[in-house]
Amino acid sequence: MKAGTGLFSALALFLLLGAVLTQKPKKTTRPSVPKPAEPAQPEPQEPTDFPPVILGPPSMYVDCPRECSCSPSYPNALNCENRNIRNIPVIPPRTQYLYLQNNYISEVTAEPFINATEIRWVNLANNRIHRIDKNVFEKVPALLYLYVQRNNLKEVPAGLPASLEQLRLGRNRISKIPAGSFSRMGNLTLLDLYHNQLSDSDMGKNTFKDLKGLVQLNLAHNILKKMPAGVPSSLIQLFLDKNRIDGVPKDYFDGFTHLAFVRLNYNQLSDKGLPKTVFNITSLLDLQLSHNQLASVPLFNGHLEHLHLDHNSIESINGTQICPYSLEADSSDHSMVPRLRYLRLDGNHLSPPHPSGCHHVLQTPPLYCHLGERCLRA
Ligand SMILES: *[C@@H]1O[C@H](CO)[C@@H](O)[C@H](O)[C@H]1NC(C)=O
Ligand SMILES: *[C@@H]1O[C@H](CO)[C@@H](O)[C@H](O)[C@H]1NC(C)=O
Ligand SMILES: *[C@@H]1O[C@H](CO)[C@@H](O)[C@H](O)[C@H]1NC(C)=O
Ligand SMILES: *[C@@H]1O[C@H](CO)[C@@H](O)[C@H](O)[C@H]1NC(C)=O
Repeated sequence: MKAGTGLFSALALFLLLGAVLTQKPKKTTRPSVPKPAEPAQPEPQEPTDFPPVILGPPSMYVDCPRECSCSPSYPNALNCENRNIRNIPVIPPRTQYLYLQNNYISEVTAEPFINATEIRWVNLANNRIHRIDKNVFEKVPALLYLYVQRNNLKEVPAGLPASLEQLRLGRNRISKIPAGSFSRMGNLTLLDLYHNQLSDSDMGKNTFKDLKGLVQLNLAHNILKKMPAGVPSSLIQLFLDKNRIDGVPKDYFDGFTHLAFVRLNYNQLSDKGLPKTVFNITSLLDLQLSHNQLASVPLFNGHLEHLHLDHNSIESINGTQICPYSLEADSSDHSMVPRLRYLRLDGNHLSPPHPSGCHHVLQTPPLYCHLGERCLRA
């Protein structure tokens, strides 16, 4: 039980750390230019007629664009965020970290990047971008992170470099993934296409074929009716919340040996669409199926730690199915002890209340719930 909890925490930590680390480049190379207090992601209002704000005296770098700031302690970073910028300035060749988020940029063309061959990290989030020319990153062989979430893209940009490790395209209007968009991107670990307008026809069998190292895929909040085809089996995290998915093919997760987090909240899943053993995935730790139309509890593997089944149509639960083993009987064999410690069943049709109290939200992990008998605190 400890080992399972440890594994879960380690994985959660790994993903969390990933998220934290990738928000900003590593400390050693990242500028700590003091920023004015600002809301996390200010929504651009309207661009003003004023030129971009000039902060402070001219930079000691002659190539520092006047609308940006260049810190001598971080010569590899160019800070141009929150500056009322409409056109990307010429990027100095030494730039590795480029901050252009929260501006009014509508197009990304190749010219400003022509000598910026060292770029590793570009943040273009929260602009008005509807077009990224396909040759922009042609001469940027080492680009690792590209963040273009919260823009107006209608399709996945062409010509993205094969070196990418993280690609964030969430909150655009993407309804098209041109063939070959992700080809050769064997180093990509995170692909975020959350909150777009992608439908089943946009995801061919080969769309994700080359993404052999993908760990996190977010396709939540699109208009998928089916599970996306050809999703890489290297995934640890698959998010598909808020689509219109009504079923999962029987062998969909065959060969997924690392998959730990699956979210399918707010879809149209019913018992009919879920083959009996489809979620019997040994590596799975967290399964979220809230706000669907399930009438029974799907079968899951004994390693599962978190199960969200709230707001479905479940009328009864079989305690033996949720807790198939007795804690005492198997306490010598730890591999047999079920690890479920967070279970949500609120918003179903469970009545009258179960004697164990397991039918309502168990808000305080680690709460181990032995249905029909008792709940134990681990
Ligand atoms: C790029 O570098 C070349 C050679 O150093 C220089 O002549 C040219 O002006 C630079 N272009 C831009 C846009 O900075
Ligand atoms: C992928 O990552 C490996 C290891 O860091 C690196 O050697 C390789 O060049 C990368 N591939 C691309 C296309 O950048
Ligand atoms: C679930 O998976 C385990 C491990 O892969 C397997 O031993 C077990 O038979 C499966 N259960 C069902 C009901 O298929
Ligand atoms: C509950 O599930 C167990 C194991 O799957 C089964 O043996 C038992 O008959 C079920 N009980 C009811 C009341 O359905």
